[in-house]
Amino acid sequence: MAERLSATASCLLPAAAAKRGAPVARSSLPLLPSPPRGAAAARSLHLIPAGHRAALRPLSPLSSLLPRLCKRPEATSRAMSSSAVCSASDPDQLKSAREDIRELLKTTFCHPILVRLGWHDAGTYDKNIAEWPQRGGANGSLRFEIELKHAANAGLINALKLLQPIKDKYSSVTYADLFQLASATAIEEVGGPQISMKYGRVDVSGPEQCPPEGKLPDAGPPSPGAHLRDVFYRMGLNDKEIVALSGAHTLGRSRRERSGWGKPETKYTKDGPGAPGGQSWTVQWLKFDNSYFKDIKERKDEDLLVLPTDAVLFEDPSFKVYAEKYAEDQHAFFKDYAEAHAKLSNLGAQFDPPEGISIDDDSKTATPEQFVAAKYSSSEEKA
Ligand code: HEM
Repeated sequence: MAERLSATASCLLPAAAAKRGAPVARSSLPLLPSPPRGAAAARSLHLIPAGHRAALRPLSPLSSLLPRLCKRPEATSRAMSSSAVCSASDPDQLKSAREDIRELLKTTFCHPILVRLGWHDAGTYDKNIAEWPQRGGANGSLRFEIELKHAANAGLINALKLLQPIKDKYSSVTYADLFQLASATAIEEVGGPQISMKYGRVDVSGPEQCPPEGKLPDAGPPSPGAHLRDVFYRMGLNDKEIVALSGAHTLGRSRRERSGWGKPETKYTKDGPGAPGGQSWTVQWLKFDNSYFKDIKERKDEDLLVLPTDAVLFEDPSFKVYAEKYAEDQHAFFKDYAEAHAKLSNLGAQFDPPEGISIDDDSKTATPEQFVAAKYSSSEEKA
């Protein structure tokens, strides 16, 4: 995946990577050396359309990329006038941007990191703070270097690089909207539920409006259940929503060089899709379904990841009710996930117009292309 192209992942390597212990249960096997990156990066570059390659030049130092991303003239002028309000996004541009995101997804397999980007922009929200943007949330603040450097955001610079050409093309789409649009589109394109989204989020204007570090959950706290409640209750989310949203880990991989969690590679990740490596929670980690809950419950496969905050979903009595239900009933999971995701995407956001903009009417022009088992490593054994 294109994410591997950048040296910034190592620039952003969190101290947390060193401090954290091994994941629970099946993730505790001895570590292998990381796979070589050069070949992987070269392979993935061929998957990326020329229009996006410029934004993905390997080894761009963070300092040289960020002026382009974050020190744009309009951002600077807005920063000088704290009373300035950014325009809401334009509905036609949002629809066109969605088409471009669909194209990007087809060629780069970046669905998981786009979902993580949207979640990390929104997940800083604090319901106890009334003022915008001090309350955090889905306000585009994650485009700024100071926030991208938070340990929890390691690697997300790569998601920003992928989206920047689309942002450049559609100046009347805010970053806050683009992040949430990309996330919801990614979920829908890999077989997930359609999410009832609204747009018109206003962007913060400068890095001084970014939230402080430490708002997002840690994967290995001493008391995972209490920690998840501390963090998600602060966002105004409940136990059902914590469990449903955790189901997003049906997509993607953990990379030790970013978060400190996961094996360098497994039989499910060694050949991609996208750049190889990392450890996934599920076998088909580019397919949105309820396999995350089934796999966490069974814990039969050493190659699948279970973080302490995943494991607790079947250990805590209140979480367990929902985790069991979602393992049994994909329809129930999809319904609750779609509702929780829409709520997450709105956290802390200031909408202009206040009621938001819907682009749902003609959003589904075609059936999403499903990923087939043949595209996965070791698919024959698992199909
Ligand atoms: C419940 C608390 C959560 C914790 C502790 C947590 C932790 C993590 C960690 C450690 C990673 C690996 C990052 C890396 O190494 O690149 C990760 C990846 C990911 N997370 Fe979470 N997460 C949580 C909740 C969520 C939520 C609510 C969502 C979305 C709604 C989400 C979506 C994702 C996705 C899609 C990835 C894969 C990214 C990729 O493949 O690049 N996570 N998460």
